[in-house]
Amino acid sequence: MVYQIYPRSFADSDGDGMGDLSGITSRLSHLVDLGVDALWLSPFFRSPQKDGGYDVADYCDVDPLFGTLADCDALMARAHELGLKVIVDLVPNHTSDEHAWFRAALASAPGSPERARYIFREPDAAAPGVPPNNWLSVFGGSAWAKHPDDPHGEWYFHLFDASQPDLDWRNPEVADMFDDVLRFWLERGVDGFRVDVAHGLFKADGMPDQVMSDGGELTSEPSDMVRRGLTEAPMWDQPEVHEVYRRWRKILESYTAESGVERMMVAEAMPLTAAGMARYVRADEFQQAFNFAFQWADWGAPQFRRVISETMEALRTIGSPPTWVLDNHDQPRHVTRYGGGPLGLARARAATLLMLALPGSAYLYQGEELGLPEAEVAPEFRQDPRTDRVGRDGCRVPIPWSGSASPYGFGPEGSTPWLPQPEDWAPLTVEAESGVEGSTLELYRSALAARRSLSGDDVELLDAPYEVVAVRRGEVEIWLNAGAEPVPLPEGSVILSSEPLADVLPPDACAWLRVQSRASL
Ligand code: BGC
Repeated sequence: MVYQIYPRSFADSDGDGMGDLSGITSRLSHLVDLGVDALWLSPFFRSPQKDGGYDVADYCDVDPLFGTLADCDALMARAHELGLKVIVDLVPNHTSDEHAWFRAALASAPGSPERARYIFREPDAAAPGVPPNNWLSVFGGSAWAKHPDDPHGEWYFHLFDASQPDLDWRNPEVADMFDDVLRFWLERGVDGFRVDVAHGLFKADGMPDQVMSDGGELTSEPSDMVRRGLTEAPMWDQPEVHEVYRRWRKILESYTAESGVERMMVAEAMPLTAAGMARYVRADEFQQAFNFAFQWADWGAPQFRRVISETMEALRTIGSPPTWVLDNHDQPRHVTRYGGGPLGLARARAATLLMLALPGSAYLYQGEELGLPEAEVAPEFRQDPRTDRVGRDGCRVPIPWSGSASPYGFGPEGSTPWLPQPEDWAPLTVEAESGVEGSTLELYRSALAARRSLSGDDVELLDAPYEVVAVRRGEVEIWLNAGAEPVPLPEGSVILSSEPLADVLPPDACAWLRVQSRASL
């Protein structure tokens, strides 16, 4: 069980409105009470924070917003004392435009070794305003820009925000630099890395125009880019990326061997097919890769059945454990995705119980254990550089810990969180939900504890009504009712349920039951 912490929004120890490392250290007991094994910290490195820290200016230092390297050491030491592993985020696809390498590139001539660490192109003299190819940024618009500080006016490539220039991984200096970054954090004692955009590092040789195989038009809608990008894009999932991960795995193994403490890495990679995903978790690459299938599925039994069967099927062939995730810092929270309000919450709790019964690893995102909905963030407060819809700020609103009004214990009394917290979050604080039977926090705590007693690396989908998911794992059956009518449950003892049960499973609910082996029925 891994718990994702978004450092800006977890706990603010100094009252500047921004979460920080000391704040995290002071709240680690919450993770122990919840029952997770590890925490993953989104980036806290030196950064101008144009993309919430995913724009790194120095990979080996802590941004003063979050504290110091000494605070980081203290956090890791405390986490380890408490038996928690620590995973840090590694962002290898791009740096910030304030990284020393990019500043040196801008200060150097076209064609220089400094520019060769990034992807620069000379404008076409006949059409200086036309970018070198038709590729689009995930965040919207062309993936090419001319930097205001570039006296030579060259194009440079950015898959994400213009403040995040892509590195050229065909240049060996880049790989060498990241070896050093890995070693830096391994030496400090981190247990692993979450690798950002792991399928993006290499671009197809020559960077040819993107051609839609369905003959469709490329639009500059970011969502369109991501959708199409998964299937038909020369910027994703190039075979060369795997060499990088083999190299990193060797580094991790050397630290594992030396210290006796296993080091791991998990890929944020989004190839389209399960077979593509399986390549990232081959024996000499990542130990795990995120599986976003739940997060992308709508509420519904057929959807959930498909997520489970496709995931398990893909992994059976390679023997890597599955992973599951419902929420993270990039997507609206699942309470809101499933309709919001009491209905969205009931469904979210049910989906969580289903997910937590499955084998492998589950990744939780801070605040989902409180049943937080996506917060509405007024336009004047929004910070996400993504240009579509309302951006990703609503799931990044600071966590409510206690009290009846903002900052709800996130920071000292009187401090103002960097994103405003909703006025109606008093019932959703850790304090308000702790010890309260039936609260979402207590449901998560019970589920995490009960999960430890589940056994079996595989699951079987059972025959059940169309609107019901029924899964068997060892001696436990997990039933989720996404239909409108209550359904009868098999005989057995209820371990857990997302709603109070009579002898039927109500709509929008999930239950775990210990049943007799079907074979012996
Ligand atoms: C991270 C995002 C980030 C992007 C660019 C992702 O997949 O999760 O938050 O904006 O990479 O680094």
